Amino acid sequence: MAEELTPETPEETDEPIKQRKNGLYPGVSDELAENMKSGWADTELRGLEPIAQAAHTAARRAALSERFPGERLVIPSGNLRTRSNDTEYAFRPSTEYAYLTGDHTHDSVLVLEPRKAGGHEATVYLLPRSDRENGEFWLDGQGELWVGRRHSLTEAEQLLGIPAKDVRDLPAALAEATGPVRNVRGHDAGIEAALTDKVTAERDEELRVYLSEARLVKDEFEIGELQRACDSTARGFEDVVRVLDKAEATSERYIEGTFFLRARVEGNDIGYGSICAAGPHATTLHWVRNDGPVRSGELLLLDAGVETTTLYTADVTRTLPINGRFTELQRKIYDAVYDAQEAGIAAVRPGAKYREFHDAAQRVLAERLVSWGLLGDMDVEKVLELGLQRRWTLHGTGHMLGMDVHDCAAARTETYVDGVLEPGMCLTVEPGLYFQADDLTVPEEYRGIGVRIEDDILVTEDGNRNLSAALPRRSDEVEAWMAGLKG
Ligand code: GLY
Ligand code: MN
Ligand code: MN
Repeated sequence: MAEELTPETPEETDEPIKQRKNGLYPGVSDELAENMKSGWADTELRGLEPIAQAAHTAARRAALSERFPGERLVIPSGNLRTRSNDTEYAFRPSTEYAYLTGDHTHDSVLVLEPRKAGGHEATVYLLPRSDRENGEFWLDGQGELWVGRRHSLTEAEQLLGIPAKDVRDLPAALAEATGPVRNVRGHDAGIEAALTDKVTAERDEELRVYLSEARLVKDEFEIGELQRACDSTARGFEDVVRVLDKAEATSERYIEGTFFLRARVEGNDIGYGSICAAGPHATTLHWVRNDGPVRSGELLLLDAGVETTTLYTADVTRTLPINGRFTELQRKIYDAVYDAQEAGIAAVRPGAKYREFHDAAQRVLAERLVSWGLLGDMDVEKVLELGLQRRWTLHGTGHMLGMDVHDCAAARTETYVDGVLEPGMCLTVEPGLYFQADDLTVPEEYRGIGVRIEDDILVTEDGNRNLSAALPRRSDEVEAWMAGLKG
């Protein structure tokens, strides 16, 4: 009888791996097991160049080291998550780990160990190449023959510019460690269990907050990646316009799939679930079911972003007339949102309070809603004071953008929402107006119309730069652009 597989930690037993644990894999004869051990070429890659962001990740680790002197810092990439039975969701490493290493592998951990002489020694703990002696490479579902070759530890060291060790040795190393430790929680339950007696929630939170605030100002590499994300996203939007007739013949899913193709071919993935909201679905802020009809004469609100292979995402929205021409009412509402976005973008500059762009956009929208008679005879100041415009504006006018679509989410209020804009920050400006299909307080013809325009704005030394400017925004320019693409 073949032994019961799978020793999760192969070195804990001398037994060879000979059968997949769920029984899907047939028994393996001793002869075959022996045969599979040998006859394999040396494929070690030598003289590898470091990844493009290696110098930047080193600078980020140095800043982190300075902030937490004398403390051991543990930053996991995270584990695979089961989708169903033995299939997993596509893996995406934790933003904190990827930001500090540039590595994207799962079950990996960055440890910054304090040196006696000051500073820290960084080590990245990784799963090394599959060991051919114990059969893991071909009999384990995560072996290299099933999921692809991993880097050897030496290769990883060269690529990342960080000394690498076997992650299977990490729990023991952590158990022996003395002195203060901090861990980024929420990514690796095994690491958290190993550290449970050594950390506190409060101190771990300080580390998480630091790593969120460190990302508020983007370095040159990050700005370049955000631009690439926006450029790919613009191409994805063009792809969608070209196939709107096919979407009309099928559903919003055609739009979702079309954009996804661009994201996967040019980037790592989409940075968040694409919102492909046609007709009244545009009034549902996070419409990601995308299973509705696409009809001529209605609007399509498309909110989508390509995530680059380095894990920086765009977050762009355009609201498009499906047949290429806005109706008079659609244009009136669209132009109001455009004007609000213009006012918001104009308020993005170094030294401005973060809240200013939101306030500027909200004021324009409130003015327009009042002028359309939707708020009785109340004046704009009173509307803004009471926030009554929010029945139709619904959400904040933007957020920080970077590796996470809602980036820097753990930053403190005083550094983010109540903070001041600095060169290198990147944020979305995305006002919208949404008239729900069942909103009896607006004229019937408004009901079911939703418009959002969203761009990704970099704060520069003297103002701002729109990274997503490749996509037109003004209503007449949108129509001309669509006409050109539809041919
Ligand atoms: N796509 C989500 C957002 O715009 O914030
Ligand atoms: Mn968006
Ligand atoms: Mn957004």
